[in-house]
Amino acid sequence: MGSCNVNKRLEGKVAIVTGGASGIGASTVHLFWEQGAKVVIADIQDNLGQSLATKLGDNVLYVHCDVSDDEQVMNLVDTAVSKFGQLDIMYNNAGIMSGIFESILNTNKSDLERMLGVNLIGAFLGAKHAARVMVPNKKGCILFTASSCTKIGGIAPHSYAASKYGVVGLTKSLACELGKHGIRVNCISPFGVLTGSTGGAEKEAMFEMMMGAVGNLQGKILKAEDIAKAALYLASDEASYVSGMNLVVDGGYSVVNPSLMKISKA
Ligand SMILES: NC(=O)c1ccc[n+]([C@@H]2O[C@H](COP(=O)([O-])OP(=O)(O)OC[C@H]3O[C@@H](n4cnc5c(N)ncnc54)[C@H](O)[C@@H]3O)[C@@H](O)[C@H]2O)c1
Repeated sequence: MGSCNVNKRLEGKVAIVTGGASGIGASTVHLFWEQGAKVVIADIQDNLGQSLATKLGDNVLYVHCDVSDDEQVMNLVDTAVSKFGQLDIMYNNAGIMSGIFESILNTNKSDLERMLGVNLIGAFLGAKHAARVMVPNKKGCILFTASSCTKIGGIAPHSYAASKYGVVGLTKSLACELGKHGIRVNCISPFGVLTGSTGGAEKEAMFEMMMGAVGNLQGKILKAEDIAKAALYLASDEASYVSGMNLVVDGGYSVVNPSLMKISKA
């Protein structure tokens, strides 16, 4: 009585986390490792990625990988399998953002191509090479980080939003094809969360204050660890029949519109 299940939720599993050197990816690497997984960190920030791997020890490996490069992603997956013997979880999380809300009139084709190159093509390549080794095993879990901008317009630049809508489309399409091979495919859509990409303590505090103020759920600031926990759920056997899902972690922001309530209270 009163005892809790102390089993690690990812014991015996091997995971790749792209964009694992910083932010949501780094939190996820840490949590997956704590939960018993062997983890490969894939990133282009070699110093950060390598030092996280060194800190966590033998069950974590850093591999330099630009996710927009087919050969590098192929090498990443092959390295994970040769080092740890298998691949159970492929978390395609690497992404680039732009905080600037440019008008479509000032958005260049090259802005869109840059976003698609990492956020969508990177996700596509990760899924493709993961599927290559998962299909023969008849099991596996593919995850992506999309964004809550896939649920409501106006909260992200156009090129970023377009790239992340593509990720949601890919999730559903792959869930259909890969279901017959026992492979689950899901994505996670975070609201704004402070990660490595912001500059300086003052700016960071301001960012969190702003997100807290505009957010729907009060009394809580979304952290990278909260997204890592969503990834852990989807990667674990607790989600063994969950596939094709866009798990939105936004405190309800994208499904409420408080403007009428505000007026009626005034
Ligand atoms: N932070 C947010 O508010 C937020 C909200 C919604 C979605 N997201 C998404 O979450 C994911 C993680 O972002 P984050 O917020 O942790 O930011 P972050 O900048 O801290 O982490 C992103 C990581 O991806 C890596 N990366 C970038 N381009 C790469 C490439 N070509 N190949 C390999 N690695 C590459 C970066 O080096 C970095 O380590 C991204 O896909 C992002 O779009 C973030």
